[in-house]
Amino acid sequence: MGKEFDSDRPIASLISPDRSSEELQLNKTIKLAIMASGNGSNFEAVAKAIETGKLNAEIKVLIYNNPDAKVRSRAEKWQVPAVLINHKEFKKRQDFDRAIVETLKEYQIDWVVMAGWMRVVTEVLLQAFPNRVINIHPSLLPSFRGLRAVEKALEAKVKITGCTVHIVSLEVDSGPILIQAAVPILIDDTPETLHARVQIEEHRILPQAIALAALSQEKQVSK
Ligand code: GAR
Repeated sequence: MGKEFDSDRPIASLISPDRSSEELQLNKTIKLAIMASGNGSNFEAVAKAIETGKLNAEIKVLIYNNPDAKVRSRAEKWQVPAVLINHKEFKKRQDFDRAIVETLKEYQIDWVVMAGWMRVVTEVLLQAFPNRVINIHPSLLPSFRGLRAVEKALEAKVKITGCTVHIVSLEVDSGPILIQAAVPILIDDTPETLHARVQIEEHRILPQAIALAALSQEKQVSK
């Protein structure tokens, strides 16, 4: 047997529709910081959404924690300042987060986006940016929190997984959900093939979720 289902139809029916650009139009250009630990394809997706006018934002800074992270060269390409804050240089998570907050304040950031940030955050960051930290995770939360989310979905033999963008709270991979997208698991999927399809959805929903979060804040402020 080949693929579990053979046409595009079931896949298409699982994909939540895009929000229209009008629906997501922000009045003010928001200042973003992206925090990333690795490849940075989500960084790139946000940068492209800004370039094509889909997201009224500016990436003021990239914070990365791993000196070898590919995301650094992506930031360079997009002419975004990249600041390395290496967690290995800090004994306590709180001190690491204090250094991050200092940089975020320096760049006068409105919203913090964790796009492949592989560190647990503390109250130090969340109290400095209450309800203004966003995370993307490669599963349909609350399923498969933490590391190896794609592998865990395969091991659990679920038929559908996906990705979630949410506001960050202290408990790992929890907090109010902004947008989710579903991805069907195919019989011959490997962690790599499945993650690649999850990432297509991540790149689509992350910019939309950032706009949604900022819009809800704009509405609260104007009340
Ligand atoms: C993404 O799939 C993101 O959901 C995941 O890391 C990947 C980063 O990809 N994040 C987590 O697992 C956080 N718990 P990228 O570096 O290509 O943007």
